[in-house]
Order: sequence, then structure tokens, then C-alpha cells
Amino acid sequence: MTKHVPPAEQDTDFRSEILQGLTAERKAISSKWLYDDVGSHLFEAITELDAYYPTRTELGILEAKVRDFARLPGARGAMVELGSGSSRKTNLLLGAFPDLSVYMPIDISANHLKEAAGRVRRAYPSLAVIPIAADFTQPLGKLPLLPELPVLVFFPGSTIGNFEKSEAVVLLKSIRDAMPEAHMIIGVDRPKGEAVLVEAYDDPAGVTAAFNLNLLQRINRSLGADFELSRFRHRALWNAEESRIEMHLESLADQTVRIGDTDIRFASGETIHTENSHKYDDRAFAEITSRSGWRVLDTDTDPDGLFSVLTLQAQSLP
Ligand code: SAH
Ligand code: AVI
Repeated sequence: MTKHVPPAEQDTDFRSEILQGLTAERKAISSKWLYDDVGSHLFEAITELDAYYPTRTELGILEAKVRDFARLPGARGAMVELGSGSSRKTNLLLGAFPDLSVYMPIDISANHLKEAAGRVRRAYPSLAVIPIAADFTQPLGKLPLLPELPVLVFFPGSTIGNFEKSEAVVLLKSIRDAMPEAHMIIGVDRPKGEAVLVEAYDDPAGVTAAFNLNLLQRINRSLGADFELSRFRHRALWNAEESRIEMHLESLADQTVRIGDTDIRFASGETIHTENSHKYDDRAFAEITSRSGWRVLDTDTDPDGLFSVLTLQAQSLP
């Protein structure tokens, strides 16, 4: 594939990206670093919360549509899943795709991926399960796909919303370039009332806060830093102009944190921007797909209009 990122290489990328992000004028860290073992388990706990509507809503749409998806050519070939996490949504599709030959989940959270792939293997012994532990924003050109197999890309969860719009276009283009004949099933979260959104990303049980704060613990554990978690708090803010929820970690005091031999100064109230979660209506997402070389074949939405699942087809290159 892409590089099957060896743990040591991921550690080097982590160190350099964290230091770069925390020494920038506006402190920011890519949301992909939220997913170590602990972060992946906390994300799974988020998906069970009443406040977090996306998972159950998308599952409902997938369940209603799975027979149509089974008619896509890739359902009898190879399914490549981006950001597969626990592969819970995948199980729903696999049950309806008896002729699928290959399942290739790609995820940056290596242990979590390995466990999920093991569960799929045990449930579907005749399926070739090929997990790829990697950052899918890196070149996808070397995926070990058999050229004769049709491909279905599965990109659920509205993970595409975690990218800036221009990054989303680059990512979808790179998927199209790597799999030029593919279809894609992609989950997209829709704009809705601010109160519902803020509660989904700042739930009363504090699970999302723990998910966000775990990033500081991960930096402490991996880079020998001395973040005191009680001196930061989780914030979820609706940015109407950009149609996105932003997660931040806010410093509760003027303080200096040490990472190895680097001092990072925080003013009270200053934040580290840790995640964007863009919400797209049909028109806004159509702009992303048309700019990245995908044609929308179908859009399915739940009755309350909370979430959409789109079926896309790669357009042939000019
Ligand atoms: N698809 C699952 C999980 C979504 S959470 C669902 O719908 O519930 C997002 C997943 O994407 C996590 O498992 C995380 O580890 C993975 N991820 C995030 N950024 C990534 C990146 N750049 N490369 C590979 N995996 C990534
Ligand atoms: C994975 N991703 C689409 C989730 C989201 O809703 O943006 C991650 C998440 N962050 C906080 N809660 C869930």
C-alpha cells in the first residue's frame, strides 16, 4: 500500500507534528492523533451515547440501503474501508455481500485495527482480510489490490468531515486516482441546530471531553511531557461560517508545559485546536465531490435529515 507505517515511524511523525503544532502561532494538532488505543476505545464509547446521533443514524440508513449496495460491482470484489475503527458498520455490509473476496480496512490506530480485523476474519473465514495500518492521507497508490477485482470504497462515520474542505478534495481525488473504477459509499453529517451539535460534541457524561483530553495524556506518555490535565478543559464550539464543530483544549491558566527539552507557553484561555467536524448539506458536499472527480449516484438521508449516506462513482480521468 501506502506505507504500512511501522510503529517507530509513526512515533517520529507524532513527535514532529506535535512539536510543530504546539509551537505554531495558533496551536493546533491533527485529529488523527486522537486515536491511540485509549482514544479508539473512547471513540467507541462516544458512539453509544444518546447525545451522539451520527452512529445510530448512519447505521439505520445503511441497514435500509444494504440490498442496493449489494448490487454495486465492488460488492463482488474488494471492499476498501477508510478509518475502519471497530468495523461495526462493516459487519452490516459483509452480511449482505456473500460474494465479496477481499476486505481491506485501513486505519491509523494499529492495535484497534488488528483486533477488529481478527473479529471479521473469525466471522467470515472465507474472506481475505488484509488490514493496513497507515495514514490514509499518505499516497494510496500501492494498495495491494488485485487489478481484476472491482472495488467498493467504504468511508463511513462522516470522517471526511474531519478534513478542511480543500484537504477533503485532495483526499477524495487521491482515492479516485488510486482506484479509478471504484464506487464509494460515504457518510456525511448534515448541518442542524447548534444545541444538538454542541451536546453531541460535549456530552453530559464527559466521554468526549475524556476523548479530547486523552491527547494530552498521549503526549505525556509518548513524549515525556508534563501536561497537567486538570489545567485544561474540553471545548466544543460551533463555527457557523465554516459550518463545523471545532474541538479545542483550553488552558485554564497561564502556564508552561515541558515536552522533552522544549517549553510550550500557554496563556489562560488559549486553546489547542484538536478537531474540525464539518457538516455538509447536499449542495455543499456536491461541490466537494465534483471538484474531486466523483459523481453522486444516490443520496440517502434519515427521516429527520440528520445524516446522509452517498453512493459515488469515480469519474473517468480526462
Ligand atoms: N468508521 C468508524 C470509525 C470512525 S472514527 C465509524 O464510522 O464509526 C475515525 C476512524 O478513522 C478512527 O478509527 C481513526 O483511527 C481513523 N483515522 C482518522 N484519521 C486517519 C488517518 N489520517 N489515516 C487513517 N486512519 C485515520
Ligand atoms: C470520526 N469523526 C467523524 C467523529 C466526528 O463526529 O467528527 C469524531 C468525534 N469527535 C468527537 N466526537 C466524535
